[in-house]
Amino acid sequence: MSTLSNKRIIVGITGGIAAYKSAEIVRRLQDRGAEVQVVMTPSAEEFIRPLTLQALSGYPVHADLLDPEAEAGMGHIELARWADLLLIAPATADFVASMVHGRGNSLLNAIYLATPARIAVAPAMNQGMWSHPATSDNMQTLKQRQVMIFGPDSGIQACGDIGEGRMQQPDTIVDQVANCFETGQLSGKKVVITAGPTREAIDPVRYISNHSSGKMGYSLAAAAVEAGAQVTIISGPVSLTPPDRCTVIPAVSAAEMHNAALAACVDADIFIASAAVADYRPVNVAEQKIKKSADSIELKLEKNPDIVSAVAENFSDLFVVGFAAETQDIETYARDKLVRKKLDAIVANDVSRTDVGFNSDDNEAWWITADSCQAFSKRSKTQLARDIIDAISKQIAR
Ligand code: PMT
Repeated sequence: MSTLSNKRIIVGITGGIAAYKSAEIVRRLQDRGAEVQVVMTPSAEEFIRPLTLQALSGYPVHADLLDPEAEAGMGHIELARWADLLLIAPATADFVASMVHGRGNSLLNAIYLATPARIAVAPAMNQGMWSHPATSDNMQTLKQRQVMIFGPDSGIQACGDIGEGRMQQPDTIVDQVANCFETGQLSGKKVVITAGPTREAIDPVRYISNHSSGKMGYSLAAAAVEAGAQVTIISGPVSLTPPDRCTVIPAVSAAEMHNAALAACVDADIFIASAAVADYRPVNVAEQKIKKSADSIELKLEKNPDIVSAVAENFSDLFVVGFAAETQDIETYARDKLVRKKLDAIVANDVSRTDVGFNSDDNEAWWITADSCQAFSKRSKTQLARDIIDAISKQIAR
């Protein structure tokens, strides 16, 4: 039986008769090792008492978007970030419609909008409501937004109708939840990831750097944790909260990142170089702030060590993945780096665009190995990171 150990799941309950099955879902998720918190819409409370779910989950049940006391505890954004999966079961036709329209009028809606977690819905409604074109369109939209749809089943309904629309049985839902984490692909593997920019000092207050936010690297770290890996991020200066369950080693300059990477890779299996490392640094770092007197000054730069090349050179058993930040002839330049830096694979991305690449929430990339090139169309960095981790897992399993 697949496990959910180490996984955090929010069970969102909306107001339908199938809500009584949600208690069983909470129990079954816990049996598989998941930590579960429950969020209810106001109408769900008409069908099942929050106290039952509180007793089962071991957490206070979250229901009110505007409750200052609850917000002082684990606020809704914190809760949204806490989860690895948001499972809405049962999901009524009305709630599905509110998801499609991006409404934030209940705590559960707000969490749905804010969460970077995977999302699954288990629809439950009358067969007529399920087969209505509006519901079909809404389900289609959710699918396009990568929301997983569990069910529904068909059979006799609470209202006496027969047809499709019954919520699936708790065990079936929990199996699907487990399957969506059933990567376990990197279980037992140690993954080291460089992320963010480096800063190369000019004087005590100035430096050379770039626009990397660290989002791509931190998303990769989160995806590797999801896949069961033990993850170390060697992070340049960024203003992101590190994903849970990762070790973070801060590094400001390329030289620091180089040393940290070589040390961390000693017992690693996979190295992913997503950091935007400065290729050059000032030869001399002024001890005092450079005064603005001359009309122009010259800055002599010297090459930084190439971190990913050094790792590939020193650790021949390691699976090494580089990134290629390109503005033209993307595949050609990326392939050149793949060969020159002796990498196992390279992720090429276009950094000339503002909607992807540096500092955006989305990215578009090509996964390139010696004998293949796979395009990943524009998607969130969270999703792209999962796709890259999946590609790595498949490659090392060969
Ligand atoms: O951080 P974000 O805002 O989310 O942006 C993500 C990103 C655009 C920074 C990321 O997707 C990306 O492209 N990272 C690689 C940036 C880069 O430095 O690319 P490059 O083509 O110059 O370098 C090629 C490879 O060599 C990279 O893996 C880089 O980490 C590595 N390198 C480069 C120089 C150096 N001195 N040491 C290195 O290890």
